[in-house]
Amino acid sequence: MTHEIDPTTPLGKLVRDHPEFAPIFEAFGIDYCCGGDDPLERACADADLDVRTVVERLESARSDDGAGTAHDSLADLVDDIVESHHDFLRAELPSLERTVRKVARVHGDAHPELEEIESTFLEFVDEVTHHIEDEEENVFPELEALEADASLTDADEVRIREAIAHLEDEHDAAASLLERIRSLSDEYAVPDDACTSYRNMLDRLQLLEEDMHVHVHKENHVLFPDAQELLEEKAVSTP
Ligand SMILES: [Fe+2]
Ligand SMILES: [Fe+2]
Repeated sequence: MTHEIDPTTPLGKLVRDHPEFAPIFEAFGIDYCCGGDDPLERACADADLDVRTVVERLESARSDDGAGTAHDSLADLVDDIVESHHDFLRAELPSLERTVRKVARVHGDAHPELEEIESTFLEFVDEVTHHIEDEEENVFPELEALEADASLTDADEVRIREAIAHLEDEHDAAASLLERIRSLSDEYAVPDDACTSYRNMLDRLQLLEEDMHVHVHKENHVLFPDAQELLEEKAVSTP
């Protein structure tokens, strides 16, 4: 017997237990990523949506295979994040940057908002490139070591907690930049005079934002809480 979805559950927890809900929230325009601490009912009220309609839609998509965001260990989840999302960004951003620059150059006169879309995108590229490097070179190895090694000093614990808080702030900043692009492009609406490159740019910017939502969700609502739980356990077991 399955339980009805409780509308007081935070969005991040719902997607943690049911990754299949992510595209539904995306379609309703509900931010389950950086807004993941909000209970479903409040997020619906803020977005002017009927919570029962959203719950029905979630129930119809719900899978109770118990997989959740499946991972055997933090190291496993880190591998998944790097392979599914960081590698995607490394492959996608240079080529998307060329397209954004070209579209802004060719269509900027007819669509003045392209200039700000370009500058906002370049800012995003710069920030996210440093961010994933920092995760891979510094923070993720530290989390893997935390899982593998029982010993932990107070200084280690403080450093890891601060590093996580810093990454979460950067997630908010990156999400704001992508939201700005979405709003400047009128939700990725294709103008009548758009050429193939223009359409392609809008499709890829939308995909980029959707992938960042899943990516940040896995870090903010699965990896970091699991690491924090491990920190608590070690603090208790360390005399
Ligand atoms: Fe990441
Ligand atoms: Fe991150």
